[in-house]
Amino acid sequence: MRADRFTGRVAVVTGAASGLGRVAAEGLSAEGARVLLFDRDGAGLADTARNCPGAVTVTGDVTSAADQARLAEEARRLGPVTLLATAAGTIGATVPLTEMAEEDWDRLFDINVKGTWLTLRAVLPLLREAGGGAVVTFASAAGLTGSPALPAYSASKAAVVMMSRSLARVHAPEGIRVNCVCPGSIETPMLEETFASAPSPEARAQREAEFRARHPLGRFGKAGEVAASVLFLLSDDAAFTTGVALPVDGGRLA
Ligand SMILES: NC(=O)c1ccc[n+]([C@@H]2O[C@H](COP(=O)([O-])OP(=O)(O)OC[C@H]3O[C@@H](n4cnc5c(N)ncnc54)[C@H](O)[C@@H]3O)[C@@H](O)[C@H]2O)c1
Repeated sequence: MRADRFTGRVAVVTGAASGLGRVAAEGLSAEGARVLLFDRDGAGLADTARNCPGAVTVTGDVTSAADQARLAEEARRLGPVTLLATAAGTIGATVPLTEMAEEDWDRLFDINVKGTWLTLRAVLPLLREAGGGAVVTFASAAGLTGSPALPAYSASKAAVVMMSRSLARVHAPEGIRVNCVCPGSIETPMLEETFASAPSPEARAQREAEFRARHPLGRFGKAGEVAASVLFLLSDDAAFTTGVALPVDGGRLA
């Protein structure tokens, strides 16, 4: 961590109550940013805020345009907003597409795709008003390669990749950079949820071994290792980098 990369900057972080969003928000705060934390989990947000001096929290659902409008309103009060990280997301059901319930498909796409879009729709105008800034969206290594275990999730994250790359082209003339991170399997509550949904302890052990084996570095990633890439992409160190879908995946896509 460096003390000054984000001093005086305002950052909006969704999915900030847990996992990758929480650690990214804490990193931004530690490096000087004032953070606005958004999540549907109010208690989790309060926990994150304890580690982020001056943080403001907004409890809401990314799939709700009204909640996203409240987020933008609160963000505008904090001063020029130049940084956005959209970490809110869900893994969905670990089932073959042929067995997936329609409402589970809809919920997954509502959160991962529509939710990301609604955040971008609400917050990008603030970056434009500020005269520029940087956005990092959260896709997945599974958004860059097919995932036999999580086909619907993979499709939803591929949508996030292409939305981000398209926006990078649209907003470059306004001085707004848009990149996305594509993590491999990272030790967070979401990964634990994926393993816990296995039908038996043996199936869980097998799923864990399969997921680990996909990573040539031979282990799962840590949230701080993803946050380091998110902070790089948000910082001026990445001033000439936009439209990138950056794997942070222990070599899974190598
Ligand atoms: N952990 C991994 O292995 C991994 C790998 C690749 C990509 N990702 C992506 O990174 C992002 C963060 O994942 P994580 O591992 O930290 O998961 P997590 O479950 O620990 O955190 C996700 C956060 O998003 C919030 N959220 C979910 N749905 C929401 C909604 N409708 N409205 C508001 N908030 C909502 C949750 O409350 C939670 O705080 C996700 O987009 C995920 O798909 C994670």
